[in-house]
Amino acid sequence: MLSYQHDYHAGNHADVLKHAVLALALRALQRKDTPLRVFDAHAGSGRYDLAAREAARHAEHEGGIARVLAAPAPPAVLDPYLQAVHACNPGGGLRHYPGSPAIARHALRADDHLVLMELHPRALAALRRTFRGDRQVHVHGRDCAEGLPALVPPPERRGLVLVDPAYEVKADFAGVAGLLAACHRRWPGGVYLAWYPLIRDRESERFPGRVAGLGIRRIYHAVLEVAARGAMGLRGSGLCIVNPPFGLDSELGALLPWLWETLSVDGAGGWHAGWLVPE
Ligand SMILES: C[S@@+](CC[C@H](N)C(=O)[O-])C[C@H]1O[C@@H](n2cnc3c(N)ncnc32)[C@H](O)[C@@H]1O
Repeated sequence: MLSYQHDYHAGNHADVLKHAVLALALRALQRKDTPLRVFDAHAGSGRYDLAAREAARHAEHEGGIARVLAAPAPPAVLDPYLQAVHACNPGGGLRHYPGSPAIARHALRADDHLVLMELHPRALAALRRTFRGDRQVHVHGRDCAEGLPALVPPPERRGLVLVDPAYEVKADFAGVAGLLAACHRRWPGGVYLAWYPLIRDRESERFPGRVAGLGIRRIYHAVLEVAARGAMGLRGSGLCIVNPPFGLDSELGALLPWLWETLSVDGAGGWHAGWLVPE
């Protein structure tokens, strides 16, 4: 049963990390002219109204994107992400927040394509409404555990996969590692971003080691922790990045300390950017 709805969490600190890195990785891939295909395996609703009942309930964006927008002089590495946020709010301000599909769609060039997978009926309906008639966006009401390995490698042979489940069940941690392994066997040259939550749970602590043990080379690791280790709930998040495009590692070295300074609660937590598995 699918009960998770990202609408309650849109624009929080974890979205800021995930979406800023997604936007940077796409820009880095686009330094070559050849077309790309982007796969968003857990797409969510696509974009979010921050004034809606769900988002307003805990207003998680106030500890995330709202802080970023209020901060003086964000670094240039945030430009691709902030451009997508501003494009979602053509009248200015922060009423809407782009989910990963809207971030990726904003980045597409004329020959690039975006594949979205989603199982929740409400989120799927929202995606179908938003992207109806868009010939570059392909919406699948499909389980990514089956759908993603079936669709890679793409015809372009260049592109990126975002893996971002809700981790409502512990099995998601092993499921993501298994999905990475299955897709990497079929498409070793793809760029993979696997997001995971930092919570008080053994599976969360073990996740980077689990990914490092898959036998895949070139995995980068970025972590943003905004609350103290003992904190309840989501104290931060991380991304394991397989085949980071050229230059992304140094950009993350500039992004992470600024995000931590801007989003940490009373200076708690910390950040990390480094190779989990080198070349
Ligand atoms: C964390 S949310 C995605 C947020 C989105 N990627 C973003 O950053 O804006 C996870 C989504 O995955 C969907 N989902 C869960 N299991 C799935 C599966 N096996 N295949 C496809 N989608 C799934 C859920 O319904 C939920 O909407």
